[in-house]
Amino acid sequence: MSKALINTFASKLVAWHAISGRSGLPWQGNRDPYAVWVSEIMLQQTQVATVLERYPRFMKRFPTVKKLAAADIDDVLAEWAGLGYYSRARNLHACAKQVIAESKGEFPSDPTLLEQLKGIGRSTAGAIAAFAFHGRAPILDANVKRILARLFAIEGSIQDKAVNDRLWTLATELLPSKPADMPVYTQALMDFGATWCTSRKPVCLGSEKKCPFAKDCQANLSDQVLLLPQKTKKAKSPEFDCNMLLMRWGNSVLLQKRPSKAIWGGLWSLPEGPWTPRVSGTKDLDISAQTLFAATLPDEKMATLTKACKSVKYSEEIKHVFTHRRLWMQIWLASSSKELTFSNPDLKWVALNQLGRYGLPQPIKILLQGLSLVRGDDLKN
Ligand code: ADE
Repeated sequence: MSKALINTFASKLVAWHAISGRSGLPWQGNRDPYAVWVSEIMLQQTQVATVLERYPRFMKRFPTVKKLAAADIDDVLAEWAGLGYYSRARNLHACAKQVIAESKGEFPSDPTLLEQLKGIGRSTAGAIAAFAFHGRAPILDANVKRILARLFAIEGSIQDKAVNDRLWTLATELLPSKPADMPVYTQALMDFGATWCTSRKPVCLGSEKKCPFAKDCQANLSDQVLLLPQKTKKAKSPEFDCNMLLMRWGNSVLLQKRPSKAIWGGLWSLPEGPWTPRVSGTKDLDISAQTLFAATLPDEKMATLTKACKSVKYSEEIKHVFTHRRLWMQIWLASSSKELTFSNPDLKWVALNQLGRYGLPQPIKILLQGLSLVRGDDLKN
């Protein structure tokens, strides 16, 4: 391993950041651990461009950890709607409560303590410690793993524990010696991985920009840049079908609050039938109202439903890709002649002009907009 590289890496990276890194972002330069924590969680699986729009809005709505902890989870989820990976929002809320209950609203500065909070992994703990407290704590997200695997030509799967341990050790050894340099160094590492040392188009393979580590990088020197880190073959995620009921009554639509532990937990969606492994080929698009209601509203009285709503009509199929599965939603339209009441307390008629108050999964929100059921403004929140 190159000692020279270990000694010079941080200062070279910080120099690179001054010219080519991202600066002036709304969450940068802020040492409030609450603000840092929210931005890091939001940035985890969401593009910077989206966070630029949504982060200030979230901070305005929940400006302190105390306000977030005291909020209703439904309001937090509604604010998070559209950002996806909703467990992040549920964890944010749970973590805020934890910080209030366990440490009077003060975030710990020690990364090992931060890591014990809900939804904060080792790398995020490192980022919060570095940005908010100038702690000399390493980060190791997927981008950083890629940088280090290339610089030091580390072979083996990055899912492998021994490889991971090695990367954490390197990440620690490369830290700048001065704590005051930690925020800019950490941001530089993130930016370098996101914009220069990218997975498929690293600048060292282009002709325009010159990588500051070209002469140190073992992968570059041995022509292995695109081969490192070793890709782990991902199995294709399973595919499912499910029927969804879009039932209207006058200017309202029937929504169902999803169980908190399920996919889209806590969000308001359409009543849905069971997920069945997807079969390719033609679908049965001629099912009766009775069959559909039995699948999507199993707790309700069939006779009441079919009396108020005699037929259902197939509308469209929508595909949605989750992290570990792909779902094909078959949308069925129904129109009720009366304001049905429901025994399942999670079912609710929601007036179209009130939909903006509810956290809706993104594809459902788009569906309702696309069907011109609502004006765009009604869904803005
Ligand atoms: N991804 C995670 N944290 C980030 C940050 N602070 N800046 C840009 N991208 C990030």
